Amino acid sequence: MTSTHPAQIRLKNVSLTYDLHLDRTNNLKEFVVNLFTGRKYVSTRKQKINAIDNLSLDVNEGDRLGIIGLNGSGKSTTLKVISGILKPTKGTVEVQGTVQPLIEIGAGFDPEFTGRENIYLNGYMLGFTKAEIRAKEKEIIEFADLGDFIDSPIKYYSSGMSVRLAFTIATSIKPEILVFDEMLAAGDAQFMARAKTRIDNLMDRSKIIVIVSHDMGLIESTCNRVIVLNRGQRVFEGSPEDAIAYYHNQNAKSALGAAPQC
Ligand SMILES: Nc1ncnc2c1ncn2[C@@H]1O[C@H](COP(=O)(O)OP(=O)(O)OP(=O)(O)O)[C@@H](O)[C@H]1O
Ligand SMILES: [Mg+2]
Repeated sequence: MTSTHPAQIRLKNVSLTYDLHLDRTNNLKEFVVNLFTGRKYVSTRKQKINAIDNLSLDVNEGDRLGIIGLNGSGKSTTLKVISGILKPTKGTVEVQGTVQPLIEIGAGFDPEFTGRENIYLNGYMLGFTKAEIRAKEKEIIEFADLGDFIDSPIKYYSSGMSVRLAFTIATSIKPEILVFDEMLAAGDAQFMARAKTRIDNLMDRSKIIVIVSHDMGLIESTCNRVIVLNRGQRVFEGSPEDAIAYYHNQNAKSALGAAPQC
């Protein structure tokens, strides 16, 4: 799946608007009436959210791009646009190279299937053949280290166990472009340490990395370029040190009374 072209990402004037449907009962009276009559006394409001607002971005081979910003500033949405999970409302997205998003981890799991069956299910969804999955199966099972649970339906897994398996499957692919949102917040300390080494190996082999995190230490140690988003717009771009300083400065200002993001 490796192409001979250099990997690159081009976003041109990208905007993405979510339609947020606010369907809710207005007050306690309506709620009680609905409860007893089964009638739908709901007020329907629709609100548009500009999650990304006219963003242009060039990412080239060798870039380790960090995206930082307050909650709701559009970081995850930008990653989903880059990964092709969401289509922009306006603008164009061009991506050259295979992309592996580590974003909604475990989203492709079927709870009724065993861990082992889910390895195959996920593998097929990622475009692998049965033989290719079989070649990875042993390594995945060893790394996820779930013992006999690998042959139990994953509905019986703890959330940490599901994350271990999902993370291991997602990182068994070697993409040219690695895109990840912070998502390792489950798993015990021992697994986290092993997971970090696995990510480091993946990163060494990727041509481009785009990483979203609130962990400034991770951003500083991983990235060579960082953008700061605010309300879906890039408000700063520079070295990790400068971008982190800008971000902290912006947070200090918002703590002094600016409106919250979301
Ligand atoms: N599925 C959705 N439907 C409607 N609005 C959404 C949806 N996903 C995100 N949003 C809104 O879009 C905006 C950007 O969200 P996004 O998840 O990209 O932010 P973020 O920078 O990743 O935030 P965080 O730091 O909290 O992860 C927010 O206002 C959020 O409420
Ligand atoms: Mg996010």
